[in-house]
Amino acid sequence: MSGFNNIVILTGAGISAESGIDTFRSAGGLWEQHNVEDVATPEGFARDPDLVLGFYDMRREALREREPNAAHNALALLDAEFAGELLIVTQNVDDLHERAGAKRVLHMHGELKSALCTSCEMRSPWDAPMSAKDGQRPPCPVCWARTLRPDVVWFGEMPYQMERIYRALREADLFVSIGTSGAVYPAAGFVRDARDLGAQTLELNLERSEGSHWFHESRQGRAGDLVPAWVEEVLGG
Ligand code: OAD
Repeated sequence: MSGFNNIVILTGAGISAESGIDTFRSAGGLWEQHNVEDVATPEGFARDPDLVLGFYDMRREALREREPNAAHNALALLDAEFAGELLIVTQNVDDLHERAGAKRVLHMHGELKSALCTSCEMRSPWDAPMSAKDGQRPPCPVCWARTLRPDVVWFGEMPYQMERIYRALREADLFVSIGTSGAVYPAAGFVRDARDLGAQTLELNLERSEGSHWFHESRQGRAGDLVPAWVEEVLGG
């Protein structure tokens, strides 16, 4: 698979599974362990902020133990060596693409290691717990209000940088989806958008996803095997 000049890659929880981060919808995944309405909606946060802050504190803390895997490393290599346009749009809130060395990464669902202040609306890098300690939540580094929330996109909220993503999809000649179930929009619709606009489309996933039939080609297997092999095809061709 070669001869492409403009590639958009969408990644989901499956690319980080081999690093030991739980996916959402698999048996025993995060949405079996936790109620989505409680921990991933603005209403859940309004009802019980401590529960929500604790959930993201736990995930941020767990991230310290995790390392990028062969799939993240392969995409970082592609990012470094591919001379054409490239954008890695990730639905993941972990930082494993960056830790592997990828630069052209866009976090459409936000980041665990970022805080959003609901008072001044500024986003700040964040690597500490956000829940209350001694009865007080930590202050925003910009306006000092104690009104921080995780900088992640919850259900019912608009993902980040949609204009930039659609611009990239319009210009792409190849769209590749890696490790995502195709259950959550708007990301699940990118394959159709890209295809309608003339791009080739490729899926790399452990199993067939809800949207597999939309892709020109769908390969099944572990991201740690499929992604390095595909990157070699692109760079070697
Ligand atoms: P899901 O948990 O819905 O899907 C993960 C996909 O990865 C599944 O299709 C698995 O088969 C596949 N998979 C698992 N292990 C894999 C491996 N080793 N190699 C390749 N594929 C593997 O996760 P997402 O599609 O990322 O949103 O979920 C999308 C969004 O739903 C998330 O960003 C999150 C969630 O609710 C928000 O929180 C807003």
